[in-house]
Amino acid sequence: MIQLKLKIDNARGFVSDDEIKLFESESDLQRRKIYDKTGAGNDFLGWVDLPGQIDDSLIQGIEKDAARIKSDSQVVVVVGIGGSYLGARAIIDALSGNFYQMQSASGDHPLVVYAGQNIGEDYTAELLDFLNDKDYSIIVISKSGTTTEPAIAFRLLRKHLEEKYGEEKASERIYAITDASKGALKTLAGNKSFKTYVIPDDVGGRYSVLTPVGLLPIAVAGFNIREFVNGARNMQEFLKGEEDLFKNPALLYAVVRNILYRKGKTTEIMANYTPSMMYFTEWWKQLYGESEGKDQKGIFPAGVNFTTDLHSMGQYIQDGIRNLFETVVRLENPKRIMEIPHDRDNLDGLNFLAGKRLSYVNKMAETGTILAHVDGEVPNLEIILPEINENVLGELVYFFEMGCALSGYILDVNPFDQPGVEAYKKNMFALLEKPGFEDETKEIKKRIKD
Ligand code: PA5
Repeated sequence: MIQLKLKIDNARGFVSDDEIKLFESESDLQRRKIYDKTGAGNDFLGWVDLPGQIDDSLIQGIEKDAARIKSDSQVVVVVGIGGSYLGARAIIDALSGNFYQMQSASGDHPLVVYAGQNIGEDYTAELLDFLNDKDYSIIVISKSGTTTEPAIAFRLLRKHLEEKYGEEKASERIYAITDASKGALKTLAGNKSFKTYVIPDDVGGRYSVLTPVGLLPIAVAGFNIREFVNGARNMQEFLKGEEDLFKNPALLYAVVRNILYRKGKTTEIMANYTPSMMYFTEWWKQLYGESEGKDQKGIFPAGVNFTTDLHSMGQYIQDGIRNLFETVVRLENPKRIMEIPHDRDNLDGLNFLAGKRLSYVNKMAETGTILAHVDGEVPNLEIILPEINENVLGELVYFFEMGCALSGYILDVNPFDQPGVEAYKKNMFALLEKPGFEDETKEIKKRIKD
Protein backbone atom coordinates (compact mmCIF):
# COMPACT_ATOMS: atom_id res chain seq x y z
CA MET A 1 0.00 0.00 0.00
CA ILE A 2 0.95 3.61 -0.40
CA GLN A 3 0.92 6.25 2.33
CA LEU A 4 -0.04 9.29 0.26
CA LYS A 5 -3.75 9.99 -0.19
CA LEU A 6 -5.47 12.13 -2.79
CA LYS A 7 -8.75 13.67 -1.65
CA ILE A 8 -11.04 15.31 -4.17
CA ASP A 9 -14.10 15.87 -1.92
CA ASN A 10 -13.68 19.64 -2.07
CA ALA A 11 -13.67 19.61 -5.88
CA ARG A 12 -16.91 17.64 -6.13
CA GLY A 13 -19.04 20.74 -6.51
CA PHE A 14 -17.10 21.43 -9.72
CA VAL A 15 -16.33 17.93 -11.04
CA SER A 16 -18.82 15.08 -10.73
CA ASP A 17 -18.07 11.37 -10.65
CA ASP A 18 -19.95 11.03 -13.94
CA GLU A 19 -17.66 13.57 -15.58
CA ILE A 20 -14.65 11.67 -14.25
CA LYS A 21 -16.08 8.38 -15.55
CA LEU A 22 -16.31 9.88 -19.03
CA PHE A 23 -12.50 9.95 -18.97
CA GLU A 24 -12.12 6.26 -18.21
CA SER A 25 -11.20 5.06 -21.67
CA GLU A 26 -9.23 8.21 -22.58
CA SER A 27 -7.13 8.02 -19.41
CA ASP A 28 -6.59 4.29 -19.86
CA LEU A 29 -5.35 4.91 -23.39
CA GLN A 30 -2.89 7.56 -22.21
CA ARG A 31 -1.74 5.32 -19.36
CA ARG A 32 -1.00 2.53 -21.79
CA LYS A 33 1.02 4.92 -23.96
CA ILE A 34 3.30 5.55 -21.01
CA TYR A 35 3.85 1.90 -20.08
CA ASP A 36 4.02 0.73 -23.71
CA LYS A 37 6.24 3.71 -24.64
CA THR A 38 4.14 4.64 -27.66
CA GLY A 39 3.32 8.30 -26.91
CA ALA A 40 5.02 11.60 -27.77
CA GLY A 41 8.51 11.94 -26.32
CA ASN A 42 8.70 8.20 -25.68
CA ASP A 43 12.50 8.28 -25.73
CA PHE A 44 12.28 10.16 -22.39
CA LEU A 45 10.37 7.57 -20.40
CA GLY A 46 13.33 6.19 -18.48
CA TRP A 47 11.90 7.62 -15.22
CA VAL A 48 8.86 5.27 -15.40
CA ASP A 49 10.74 2.11 -14.34
CA LEU A 50 13.69 3.93 -12.80
CA PRO A 51 13.02 3.46 -9.05
CA GLY A 52 12.76 -0.32 -9.48
CA GLN A 53 15.94 -0.43 -11.54
CA ILE A 54 18.32 1.56 -9.35
CA ASP A 55 20.90 -1.01 -8.40
CA ASP A 56 22.63 -1.37 -5.12
CA SER A 57 26.08 -0.69 -6.52
CA LEU A 58 24.98 2.81 -7.60
CA ILE A 59 23.55 3.53 -4.15
CA GLN A 60 26.68 2.18 -2.48
CA GLY A 61 28.91 4.32 -4.72
CA ILE A 62 26.88 7.43 -3.89
CA GLU A 63 26.95 6.64 -0.16
CA LYS A 64 30.71 6.18 -0.34
CA ASP A 65 31.22 9.52 -2.06
CA ALA A 66 28.82 11.18 0.39
CA ALA A 67 30.93 9.81 3.27
CA ARG A 68 34.10 11.06 1.62
CA ILE A 69 32.63 14.55 1.13
CA LYS A 70 31.46 14.51 4.74
CA SER A 71 34.97 13.67 5.92
CA ASP A 72 36.75 16.41 3.95
CA SER A 73 34.18 19.20 3.50
CA GLN A 74 32.22 21.57 5.70
CA VAL A 75 30.26 22.78 2.71
CA VAL A 76 29.23 21.29 -0.63
CA VAL A 77 28.25 23.55 -3.49
CA VAL A 78 25.64 22.01 -5.79
CA VAL A 79 25.91 23.70 -9.19
CA GLY A 80 22.95 23.34 -11.56
CA ILE A 81 19.70 24.88 -12.75
CA GLY A 82 16.15 23.73 -13.49
CA GLY A 83 15.88 19.97 -13.34
CA SER A 84 19.54 19.78 -12.39
CA TYR A 85 18.85 21.79 -9.23
CA LEU A 86 15.27 21.89 -7.98
CA GLY A 87 14.74 18.22 -7.13
CA ALA A 88 17.71 17.99 -4.78
CA ARG A 89 16.85 21.32 -3.16
CA ALA A 90 13.19 20.35 -2.74
CA ILE A 91 14.02 17.12 -0.91
CA ILE A 92 16.91 18.52 1.14
CA ASP A 93 14.82 21.50 2.28
CA ALA A 94 11.82 19.32 3.10
CA LEU A 95 13.92 16.99 5.26
CA SER A 96 16.17 19.55 6.91
CA GLY A 97 15.41 21.77 9.85
CA ASN A 98 14.08 25.15 8.75
CA PHE A 99 17.22 26.96 9.87
CA TYR A 100 19.80 24.59 8.45
CA GLN A 101 21.11 27.20 6.03
CA MET A 102 22.08 29.30 9.04
CA GLN A 103 24.13 26.60 10.73
CA SER A 104 27.82 27.28 11.05
CA ALA A 105 28.97 24.65 8.58
CA SER A 106 30.15 22.54 11.50
CA GLY A 107 27.10 20.28 11.83
CA ASP A 108 26.99 16.53 11.37
CA HIS A 109 26.88 16.82 7.60
CA PRO A 110 28.24 19.31 5.10
CA LEU A 111 26.09 22.34 4.59
CA VAL A 112 24.59 22.27 1.09
CA VAL A 113 24.58 25.56 -0.80
CA TYR A 114 23.63 26.19 -4.41
CA ALA A 115 25.14 27.99 -7.39
CA GLY A 116 24.46 28.22 -11.10
CA GLN A 117 20.72 28.62 -10.60
CA ASN A 118 21.05 32.36 -11.22
CA ILE A 119 23.59 34.81 -12.65
CA GLY A 120 23.35 37.25 -9.77
CA GLU A 121 26.72 38.93 -9.37
CA ASP A 122 26.26 39.67 -5.68
CA TYR A 123 25.00 36.13 -5.03
CA THR A 124 28.07 34.58 -6.63
CA ALA A 125 30.56 36.99 -5.06
CA GLU A 126 29.00 36.46 -1.62
CA LEU A 127 29.14 32.69 -2.09
CA LEU A 128 32.86 32.84 -2.90
CA ASP A 129 33.41 35.05 0.18
CA PHE A 130 31.55 32.50 2.29
CA LEU A 131 33.70 29.67 0.91
CA ASN A 132 37.02 31.47 1.51
CA ASP A 133 37.55 29.98 4.94
CA LYS A 134 35.65 26.71 4.43
CA ASP A 135 36.72 23.30 3.28
CA TYR A 136 34.38 22.50 0.45
CA SER A 137 33.57 20.26 -2.52
CA ILE A 138 31.57 20.87 -5.67
CA ILE A 139 28.85 18.73 -7.23
CA VAL A 140 28.33 20.10 -10.74
CA ILE A 141 25.22 18.89 -12.54
CA SER A 142 24.29 19.47 -16.17
CA LYS A 143 22.77 16.92 -18.50
CA SER A 144 23.61 18.84 -21.65
CA GLY A 145 26.86 20.01 -20.10
CA THR A 146 26.48 23.33 -21.90
CA THR A 147 23.92 25.34 -19.89
CA THR A 148 25.21 28.89 -19.47
CA GLU A 149 24.26 29.68 -15.86
CA PRO A 150 25.88 26.62 -14.22
CA ALA A 151 28.82 26.75 -16.64
CA ILE A 152 29.67 30.32 -15.56
CA ALA A 153 29.25 29.52 -11.86
CA PHE A 154 31.37 26.38 -12.23
CA ARG A 155 34.15 28.26 -13.99
CA LEU A 156 34.33 30.75 -11.09
CA LEU A 157 34.06 28.07 -8.41
CA ARG A 158 36.65 25.82 -10.03
CA LYS A 159 39.13 28.72 -10.15
CA HIS A 160 38.42 29.44 -6.47
CA LEU A 161 38.82 25.77 -5.54
CA GLU A 162 42.05 25.42 -7.55
CA GLU A 163 43.51 28.52 -5.91
CA LYS A 164 42.65 27.07 -2.54
CA TYR A 165 43.84 23.47 -2.96
CA GLY A 166 45.96 23.39 -6.14
CA GLU A 167 44.73 21.91 -9.41
CA GLU A 168 45.12 18.23 -8.61
CA LYS A 169 43.61 18.30 -5.13
CA ALA A 170 40.79 20.54 -6.37
CA SER A 171 39.90 17.99 -9.05
CA GLU A 172 39.50 15.37 -6.32
CA ARG A 173 36.85 17.58 -4.74
CA ILE A 174 34.74 17.89 -7.87
CA TYR A 175 31.92 15.47 -8.71
CA ALA A 176 30.36 15.88 -12.15
CA ILE A 177 26.92 14.52 -13.02
CA THR A 178 26.31 14.68 -16.74
CA ASP A 179 25.67 12.82 -19.99
CA ALA A 180 27.42 9.48 -20.53
CA SER A 181 29.27 10.56 -23.64
CA LYS A 182 28.77 14.15 -24.78
CA GLY A 183 28.87 17.80 -23.71
CA ALA A 184 31.48 20.25 -22.50
CA LEU A 185 31.18 19.09 -18.87
CA LYS A 186 31.77 15.49 -19.89
CA THR A 187 34.92 16.51 -21.79
CA LEU A 188 36.20 18.68 -18.93
CA ALA A 189 35.49 15.93 -16.40
CA GLY A 190 37.47 13.48 -18.54
CA ASN A 191 40.40 15.87 -18.97
CA LYS A 192 40.56 16.75 -15.27
CA SER A 193 39.70 13.28 -13.95
CA PHE A 194 36.68 14.41 -11.91
CA LYS A 195 34.58 11.67 -10.37
CA THR A 196 31.56 11.39 -12.67
CA TYR A 197 28.02 10.06 -12.51
CA VAL A 198 25.77 9.56 -15.50
CA ILE A 199 22.30 10.98 -16.15
CA PRO A 200 20.57 8.34 -18.28
CA ASP A 201 19.77 9.43 -21.84
CA ASP A 202 16.10 8.62 -21.43
CA VAL A 203 15.54 10.68 -18.27
CA GLY A 204 14.91 14.40 -18.78
CA GLY A 205 16.13 17.02 -16.31
CA ARG A 206 12.86 17.62 -14.47
CA TYR A 207 12.28 13.87 -14.07
CA SER A 208 15.81 13.21 -12.80
CA VAL A 209 15.65 13.57 -9.01
CA LEU A 210 15.84 9.78 -8.57
CA THR A 211 19.11 9.61 -10.53
CA PRO A 212 22.48 10.76 -9.10
CA VAL A 213 21.27 14.32 -9.89
CA GLY A 214 19.14 14.18 -6.75
CA LEU A 215 20.59 11.20 -4.93
CA LEU A 216 24.17 12.45 -4.47
CA PRO A 217 23.28 15.87 -3.00
CA ILE A 218 20.54 14.31 -0.82
CA ALA A 219 22.98 11.68 0.51
CA VAL A 220 25.63 14.35 1.17
CA ALA A 221 23.07 16.34 3.16
CA GLY A 222 22.77 13.28 5.43
CA PHE A 223 19.49 11.72 4.26
CA ASN A 224 18.58 8.14 3.56
CA ILE A 225 18.48 7.73 -0.20
CA ARG A 226 17.57 4.05 0.09
CA GLU A 227 14.31 5.02 1.78
CA PHE A 228 13.72 7.77 -0.77
CA VAL A 229 14.11 5.25 -3.60
CA ASN A 230 11.98 2.69 -1.72
CA GLY A 231 9.14 5.18 -1.43
CA ALA A 232 9.29 5.95 -5.15
CA ARG A 233 9.47 2.23 -5.95
CA ASN A 234 6.42 1.57 -3.82
CA MET A 235 4.47 4.25 -5.68
CA GLN A 236 5.78 2.97 -9.04
CA GLU A 237 4.48 -0.53 -8.30
CA PHE A 238 1.16 0.67 -6.92
CA LEU A 239 0.37 2.93 -9.87
CA LYS A 240 1.38 0.30 -12.38
CA GLY A 241 -0.87 -2.31 -10.76
CA GLU A 242 -3.93 -0.09 -10.29
CA GLU A 243 -6.01 0.43 -13.42
CA ASP A 244 -9.10 1.80 -11.69
CA LEU A 245 -9.26 5.52 -12.32
CA PHE A 246 -10.85 6.19 -8.93
CA LYS A 247 -8.20 4.20 -7.07
CA ASN A 248 -5.09 5.29 -8.97
CA PRO A 249 -4.25 8.73 -7.48
CA ALA A 250 -1.94 9.82 -10.33
CA LEU A 251 -4.58 9.00 -12.92
CA LEU A 252 -7.34 10.65 -10.90
CA TYR A 253 -5.25 13.79 -10.32
CA ALA A 254 -4.43 14.01 -14.04
CA VAL A 255 -8.08 13.60 -15.04
CA VAL A 256 -9.55 15.98 -12.46
CA ARG A 257 -7.11 18.78 -13.27
CA ASN A 258 -7.83 18.37 -17.00
CA ILE A 259 -11.59 18.56 -16.36
CA LEU A 260 -11.09 21.70 -14.29
CA TYR A 261 -8.89 23.16 -17.04
CA ARG A 262 -11.58 22.55 -19.63
CA LYS A 263 -14.00 24.40 -17.35
CA GLY A 264 -11.78 27.49 -17.35
CA LYS A 265 -9.70 26.76 -14.27
CA THR A 266 -6.44 27.56 -16.04
CA THR A 267 -4.25 28.21 -12.98
CA GLU A 268 -3.43 25.57 -10.38
CA ILE A 269 -2.05 26.84 -7.10
CA MET A 270 -0.07 24.44 -4.97
CA ALA A 271 -0.50 25.41 -1.34
CA ASN A 272 1.43 24.13 1.65
CA TYR A 273 1.11 24.91 5.33
CA THR A 274 4.60 23.60 6.07
CA PRO A 275 7.41 26.11 5.40
CA SER A 276 9.98 23.39 4.65
CA MET A 277 7.89 22.39 1.60
CA MET A 278 8.43 25.70 -0.19
CA TYR A 279 11.05 24.29 -2.57
CA PHE A 280 8.98 21.20 -3.17
CA THR A 281 6.41 23.56 -4.67
CA GLU A 282 9.17 25.08 -6.81
CA TRP A 283 10.11 21.61 -8.08
CA TRP A 284 6.44 20.87 -8.85
CA LYS A 285 6.06 24.21 -10.66
CA GLN A 286 8.94 23.35 -12.95
CA LEU A 287 7.73 19.80 -13.56
CA TYR A 288 4.23 20.86 -14.54
CA GLY A 289 5.01 24.22 -16.14
CA GLU A 290 7.77 22.95 -18.40
CA SER A 291 5.92 19.75 -19.23
CA GLU A 292 2.50 21.17 -20.05
CA GLY A 293 2.91 24.81 -21.04
CA LYS A 294 3.23 24.50 -24.81
CA ASP A 295 1.27 24.69 -28.04
CA GLN A 296 -0.55 27.68 -26.52
CA LYS A 297 -2.11 25.51 -23.82
CA GLY A 298 -1.51 24.23 -20.33
CA ILE A 299 -2.44 24.91 -16.73
CA PHE A 300 -0.28 27.65 -15.20
CA PRO A 301 1.29 26.23 -12.01
CA ALA A 302 1.59 28.72 -9.19
CA GLY A 303 2.59 28.26 -5.56
CA VAL A 304 1.74 29.75 -2.19
CA ASN A 305 2.99 29.17 1.33
CA PHE A 306 0.20 29.37 3.87
CA THR A 307 -0.68 30.82 6.21
CA THR A 308 1.99 33.41 5.23
CA ASP A 309 0.46 34.11 1.84
CA LEU A 310 -3.10 34.20 3.17
CA HIS A 311 -2.10 37.69 4.20
CA SER A 312 -1.09 38.60 0.66
CA MET A 313 -2.27 36.29 -2.15
CA GLY A 314 -5.22 35.11 -0.05
CA GLN A 315 -7.25 38.11 -1.15
CA TYR A 316 -6.80 37.27 -4.85
CA ILE A 317 -7.50 33.59 -4.37
CA GLN A 318 -10.71 34.33 -2.50
CA ASP A 319 -11.96 37.16 -4.68
CA GLY A 320 -9.98 37.66 -7.89
CA ILE A 321 -10.52 36.19 -11.37
CA ARG A 322 -12.22 32.80 -10.98
CA ASN A 323 -9.79 30.80 -13.11
CA LEU A 324 -8.11 29.09 -10.14
CA PHE A 325 -8.05 25.75 -8.46
CA GLU A 326 -5.90 24.75 -5.53
CA THR A 327 -3.91 21.64 -4.67
CA VAL A 328 -3.08 21.54 -0.98
CA VAL A 329 -0.23 19.36 0.24
CA ARG A 330 -1.42 18.53 3.72
CA LEU A 331 0.92 17.20 6.43
CA GLU A 332 -0.81 15.14 9.12
CA ASN A 333 1.99 14.79 11.65
CA PRO A 334 4.78 17.32 12.16
CA LYS A 335 8.01 16.02 13.74
CA ARG A 336 7.87 18.30 16.78
CA ILE A 337 5.31 19.15 19.43
CA MET A 338 4.77 22.77 20.40
CA GLU A 339 1.93 23.82 22.68
CA ILE A 340 0.63 27.32 23.19
CA PRO A 341 1.32 28.35 26.81
CA HIS A 342 -1.19 29.81 29.26
CA ASP A 343 -0.58 33.48 30.08
CA ARG A 344 -1.73 34.98 33.37
CA ASP A 345 -2.59 38.40 31.89
CA ASN A 346 -4.02 37.09 28.61
CA LEU A 347 -3.67 40.52 27.01
CA ASP A 348 -3.46 38.90 23.57
CA GLY A 349 -6.70 37.01 24.30
CA LEU A 350 -5.13 33.68 23.34
CA ASN A 351 -5.83 31.70 26.51
CA PHE A 352 -8.66 29.88 24.71
CA LEU A 353 -5.85 28.15 22.80
CA ALA A 354 -3.67 27.39 25.84
CA GLY A 355 -2.48 23.78 25.77
CA LYS A 356 -3.36 23.39 22.09
CA ARG A 357 -0.67 22.38 19.61
CA LEU A 358 0.39 24.69 16.78
CA SER A 359 -0.43 21.88 14.36
CA TYR A 360 -4.05 21.96 15.60
CA VAL A 361 -4.28 25.70 14.92
CA ASN A 362 -2.57 25.20 11.52
CA LYS A 363 -5.04 22.44 10.65
CA MET A 364 -8.03 24.61 11.54
CA ALA A 365 -6.54 27.40 9.40
CA GLU A 366 -6.15 24.89 6.58
CA THR A 367 -9.67 23.48 6.87
CA GLY A 368 -11.20 26.94 7.21
CA THR A 369 -9.26 28.21 4.19
CA ILE A 370 -10.22 25.27 2.00
CA LEU A 371 -13.90 25.79 2.80
CA ALA A 372 -13.65 29.54 2.23
CA HIS A 373 -11.92 29.00 -1.10
CA VAL A 374 -14.48 26.41 -2.18
CA ASP A 375 -17.20 28.95 -1.27
CA GLY A 376 -15.27 31.43 -3.43
CA GLU A 377 -15.47 29.03 -6.43
CA VAL A 378 -11.92 27.68 -6.05
CA PRO A 379 -12.05 23.87 -6.22
CA ASN A 380 -9.65 22.16 -3.84
CA LEU A 381 -7.68 18.96 -4.20
CA GLU A 382 -5.75 17.63 -1.24
CA ILE A 383 -2.67 15.45 -1.17
CA ILE A 384 -2.35 14.11 2.34
CA LEU A 385 1.02 13.02 3.72
CA PRO A 386 1.19 11.18 7.07
CA GLU A 387 4.57 12.77 7.76
CA ILE A 388 7.57 14.15 5.97
CA ASN A 389 10.34 11.59 5.64
CA GLU A 390 12.44 10.13 2.82
CA ASN A 391 10.00 7.33 2.05
CA VAL A 392 6.92 9.55 1.84
CA LEU A 393 8.80 12.08 -0.30
CA GLY A 394 9.84 9.27 -2.67
CA GLU A 395 6.17 8.38 -3.08
CA LEU A 396 5.23 12.00 -3.59
CA VAL A 397 7.89 12.62 -6.25
CA TYR A 398 6.90 9.59 -8.30
CA PHE A 399 3.19 10.37 -7.89
CA PHE A 400 3.71 13.86 -9.34
CA GLU A 401 5.96 12.59 -12.15
CA MET A 402 3.36 10.06 -13.27
CA GLY A 403 0.52 12.54 -12.75
CA CYS A 404 2.35 15.04 -14.93
CA ALA A 405 3.03 12.63 -17.79
CA LEU A 406 -0.60 11.42 -17.78
CA SER A 407 -1.96 14.94 -17.56
CA GLY A 408 0.26 16.11 -20.43
CA TYR A 409 -0.89 13.24 -22.62
CA ILE A 410 -4.56 13.95 -21.80
CA LEU A 411 -3.87 17.59 -22.72
CA ASP A 412 -2.31 16.29 -25.95
CA VAL A 413 1.14 17.81 -25.54
CA ASN A 414 4.56 16.20 -25.37
CA PRO A 415 5.34 16.44 -21.64
CA PHE A 416 9.01 15.61 -22.14
CA ASP A 417 10.32 18.44 -24.31
CA GLN A 418 10.84 22.15 -23.62
CA PRO A 419 11.22 23.96 -26.96
CA GLY A 420 10.05 27.24 -25.40
CA VAL A 421 13.13 27.69 -23.24
CA GLU A 422 15.33 28.19 -26.30
CA ALA A 423 13.89 31.64 -27.16
CA TYR A 424 15.51 33.51 -24.27
CA LYS A 425 18.79 31.67 -24.77
CA LYS A 426 18.95 32.71 -28.44
CA ASN A 427 18.38 36.37 -27.55
CA MET A 428 20.85 36.25 -24.66
CA PHE A 429 23.56 34.72 -26.85
CA ALA A 430 22.86 37.29 -29.58
CA LEU A 431 23.14 40.13 -27.07
CA LEU A 432 26.32 38.64 -25.60
CA GLU A 433 27.72 38.36 -29.17
CA LYS A 434 28.42 34.67 -28.82
CA PRO A 435 30.38 33.32 -31.82
CA GLY A 436 27.95 31.70 -34.24
CA PHE A 437 25.15 34.17 -33.42
CA GLU A 438 26.38 37.05 -35.66
CA ASP A 439 23.12 37.39 -37.67
CA GLU A 440 20.96 37.24 -34.54
CA THR A 441 23.20 39.87 -32.92
CA LYS A 442 22.64 42.27 -35.85
CA GLU A 443 18.88 41.71 -35.74
CA ILE A 444 18.46 42.08 -32.02
CA LYS A 445 20.55 45.23 -31.85
CA LYS A 446 18.01 46.92 -34.14
CA ARG A 447 15.34 46.22 -31.50
CA ILE A 448 17.10 47.83 -28.57
CA LYS A 449 17.90 51.49 -28.12
CA ASP A 450 20.45 51.40 -25.29
O1 PA5 B 1 13.90 19.85 -17.24
C1 PA5 B 1 14.77 20.22 -17.99
O2 PA5 B 1 15.14 19.56 -18.96
C2 PA5 B 1 15.48 21.55 -17.77
O3 PA5 B 1 14.94 22.24 -16.71
C3 PA5 B 1 16.96 21.30 -17.49
O4 PA5 B 1 17.07 20.47 -16.37
C4 PA5 B 1 17.72 22.60 -17.24
O5 PA5 B 1 17.56 23.47 -18.32
C5 PA5 B 1 19.20 22.33 -17.01
O6 PA5 B 1 19.73 21.66 -18.10
P1 PA5 B 1 21.13 20.91 -18.01
O7 PA5 B 1 21.03 19.82 -17.02
O8 PA5 B 1 21.36 20.39 -19.40
O9 PA5 B 1 22.15 21.94 -17.62
